[in-house]
Amino acid sequence: MKFFIDTANLEEIETAKSWGVLAGVTTNPSLYAKTGGKLSGFEGHMQKICKACEGLAVSAESQAKTTEGMIEDGRRLSALAPNIVIKLPICEESLPATRTLAEEGVRVNMTLVFSAPQALLAARAGARYISPFIGRFDDIGDDGTGQLEQVIRCVKNYKYGWWDEEGGPEIIAASVRSVNHVTQAALLGADIATVPFATLRKCIRHPLTVEGRAKFDADWAKVAGGQA
Ligand code: G3P
Repeated sequence: MKFFIDTANLEEIETAKSWGVLAGVTTNPSLYAKTGGKLSGFEGHMQKICKACEGLAVSAESQAKTTEGMIEDGRRLSALAPNIVIKLPICEESLPATRTLAEEGVRVNMTLVFSAPQALLAARAGARYISPFIGRFDDIGDDGTGQLEQVIRCVKNYKYGWWDEEGGPEIIAASVRSVNHVTQAALLGADIATVPFATLRKCIRHPLTVEGRAKFDADWAKVAGGQA
């Protein structure tokens, strides 16, 4: 499973990238708003992320509400950088926009996916990535990982022809809120998990690893003391 980072914060992206395991970045309007950025600075900010992450997929969300607007956004945003991916919410307007963009070779990440039929439709339309949300199901007392399992099993039952040579569509486990969500996504065979910075760091720093290192450090100090 590949790791994407779910943030628009450049510092977090740079840090996660320095760990050498990052395969992409996903952003959304809420994550961009958290950076304190303004609408006028959105495209410039996305360009900075793309530059910092050359060769990695960087998802930028369209603000458009119509098919034409989404196509226009997709064309404009994809001209910003070669590694940009257009994020569109699954809806009647985005399916034809996805098809048109896919025909032009523009990669779409279909987001806000909450059911297997939505994911199957996104795949048929030509989405390069499909993002089923886990955490928001858990928020309403539903089973987020169960829903993710259904999406993965249904989508992987078929071939779609759009991105097959590239191995797409890839399923991105999104709305990841915990280390356990990451484990569940991998157990279910998600292609990618997009993980917020703090959770990604928790994936590295298991409490027992931290404790174990402290013990080893103390023992190194004892050994060094003995030598002196
Ligand atoms: O990238 C979109 C998704 O990961 C949002 O997560 O925590 O707002 O449900 P969340």
